[in-house]
Amino acid sequence: KRPAGAPDKSLARKISGVGIVGAGLMASQLAMLFVKQLKVPVILTDIDQERIDKGVGYVHDEIDKLLAKGRLSPDGANRLKALVTGSLDKAAFAKTDFVIEAVFENMDVKKKVFAELEEHISPETVLATNTSSLSITEMAADLEHPERVVGFHFFNPVAVLPLLEVIKGEQTDDETLATAFATAKALKKSAVLCADLPGFVFNRLLTRALGEVMNAVDEGTPFDVADNAITELGMPMTPLALLALVGPAVALHTGETLHAAYPERFKPSPGLQAIVEARKTGVWTWTDQGQVIDPEVAALW
Ligand code: 3HC
Repeated sequence: KRPAGAPDKSLARKISGVGIVGAGLMASQLAMLFVKQLKVPVILTDIDQERIDKGVGYVHDEIDKLLAKGRLSPDGANRLKALVTGSLDKAAFAKTDFVIEAVFENMDVKKKVFAELEEHISPETVLATNTSSLSITEMAADLEHPERVVGFHFFNPVAVLPLLEVIKGEQTDDETLATAFATAKALKKSAVLCADLPGFVFNRLLTRALGEVMNAVDEGTPFDVADNAITELGMPMTPLALLALVGPAVALHTGETLHAAYPERFKPSPGLQAIVEARKTGVWTWTDQGQVIDPEVAALW
């Protein structure tokens, strides 16, 4: 069944090479997913060779884990590893048909990345962004070919979670959108078409849930009581455990984007701001004694 809003799949272009910009937490997981499911060359880039090597190393380690679980043969694992390479030079992206960026959540940085890529890639190469909350229309606006830009927002851990938000910018054309949906299907993800609005869909829900837990703490409820209230509904993780998975800086950035767009609905959390400034990974910390509230974070509140 064609997902709601997806154009005819006959418009989709074939993908025989993928580029990943960034080699951090999300980008390296994306490299693993694309190589495993599409089995085409995947090239990663980042701002220095050390980051690139770390990203490629992550993919190799994940392939080794599948090998150890018996889900890949030794030959299959070697073939996949050989498909993943890294390069500091964006000229190496010349043969890609689908590039996704997962760099720092900043509009100017992302615009610059796309503008640089345009100097090296074909006008038909799709430029996808894994942004959590920034405008796809604005990100594409200054490009020579804004019609090839599309939002392609994955969820951590990428290997496990099926949801994929596909976001159409004002100028995104049907070929790009059809290619995005066909790629999502090949990646075995459940793609949904979202409007190009701050936070799309999932991050509005997550930001609200995190915000309300923090408000409850601000108003005097103990951390563990506020955070555990939702687990009996069958959520796999509490909101504050999810904060550690997503990363406080990303959560704060999304919250700020949503606050700027909807000041009445999304209030910045002073507690979250304090966690980011203190460079903490979250409220909970995982020790030999299990999951405990970080005393330094508790003192910051
Ligand atoms: N990479 C690859 N595989 C992973 C993984 C990872 N990082 N984490 C877990 N897995 C796999 C395991 O290998 C295991 O696979 P197997 O059963 O085939 O061997 C399977 O997932 C289950 O793992 P575990 O038994 O270790 O763990 P749990 O059953 O406790 O599940 C969880 C862990 C999948 C993280 C689960 O707790 C969960 O789904 N949590 C919610 C995560 C969530 O909501 N993420 C969204 C974040 S928002 C976001 O990313 C958007 C951004 O814009 C902010």
